[in-house]
Amino acid sequence: MSLVPILDRRVVLVSGKGGVGRTTASAALARAAARAGKRVLVTEIEEPAAQTQSSLARMFGREVLPTRPVLLAPGIHGCVLSTEHGTEQFLGDVFRVQTLARMALRNAALRRLLHAGPSFHEMGVFYHLLHLIRMTSPDGRPRFDFIVLDMPATGHTLALTGLPDILLRLVRRGPIASALREGQGWLNDRRTGTAIIVTIPEPLPVTESLELVAGLRSTRMDVGAIFVNRIPVDPFDDAQRAALAELLPDGPLYGKEELERLERARLSIERLREHARVPLVFVPQFDADGVGATEAMAEHLSEELRR
Ligand SMILES: Nc1ncnc2c1ncn2[C@@H]1O[C@H](COP(=O)(O)OP(=O)(O)O)[C@@H](O)[C@H]1O
Ligand SMILES: [Mg+2]
Repeated sequence: MSLVPILDRRVVLVSGKGGVGRTTASAALARAAARAGKRVLVTEIEEPAAQTQSSLARMFGREVLPTRPVLLAPGIHGCVLSTEHGTEQFLGDVFRVQTLARMALRNAALRRLLHAGPSFHEMGVFYHLLHLIRMTSPDGRPRFDFIVLDMPATGHTLALTGLPDILLRLVRRGPIASALREGQGWLNDRRTGTAIIVTIPEPLPVTESLELVAGLRSTRMDVGAIFVNRIPVDPFDDAQRAALAELLPDGPLYGKEELERLERARLSIERLREHARVPLVFVPQFDADGVGATEAMAEHLSEELRR
């Protein structure tokens, strides 16, 4: 398997089961990429409900992210991917005139038609992403050369990566079809697009990650790495562990649960090594959480991804 370094891609989707550290990993990747000199954009999909708090925004000291990229930190911009904004961009590109697009969007009949269409929500998000990939600086270079997408739960990830193939079966020509093909060109070419799956070394998240590897591949999405996050620090060597195991009683004992956690982590990593066939990036459990964990992970990734 030829390795395309993660930091050399244009678009990186960060996915995985809830609570495993996707947002932390997205923010950390953004920081590591910015440190490597990339012009970074971090994004997440806008919640359709009223703007609540965003944990991605909070990693950069903000409450929410706007729909247009804002500077979050040196070399890092951030925004949400919004259905509404994407649809407006799309209509703008079709009609060539932005005001016409806005008027069209205000038209109740057209809105009903759009919302009734297949995968309206994903299509808007997809187009917004495409628009951000296409953005250029005055010097003609891409405005953002490293776009990190903090994805929602597993199912939504596949809804987005599977969208082009499904819609292209229904719509083969016209502006929607060409936008879908252009997006596929970025996402499904492993030189430019990849997915990172974040997991913790526990049985259920690992099972879900292995399923996600298969799901992503079935939507022709490369899986660039699995980040095995929050690996417990193991203070014992093999001989010590074996000696301890003999000493431990069958009943409960203070500290025994931690030893069992170490054992589950070891077995989980073995399972991933055997079945995932994807490079594994190991990230330890840090003593900090929130912004502290992000900074520690960024530091760690900067070293890991250089190797
Ligand atoms: N390697 C780590 N060490 C310590 N804490 C971590 C680590 N990775 C994530 N966390 C913490 O775990 C919690 C969940 O992480 P988060 O990135 O919000 O998960 P997700 O986005 O997958 O729901 C957060 O409090 C975060 O700070
Ligand atoms: Mg999150």
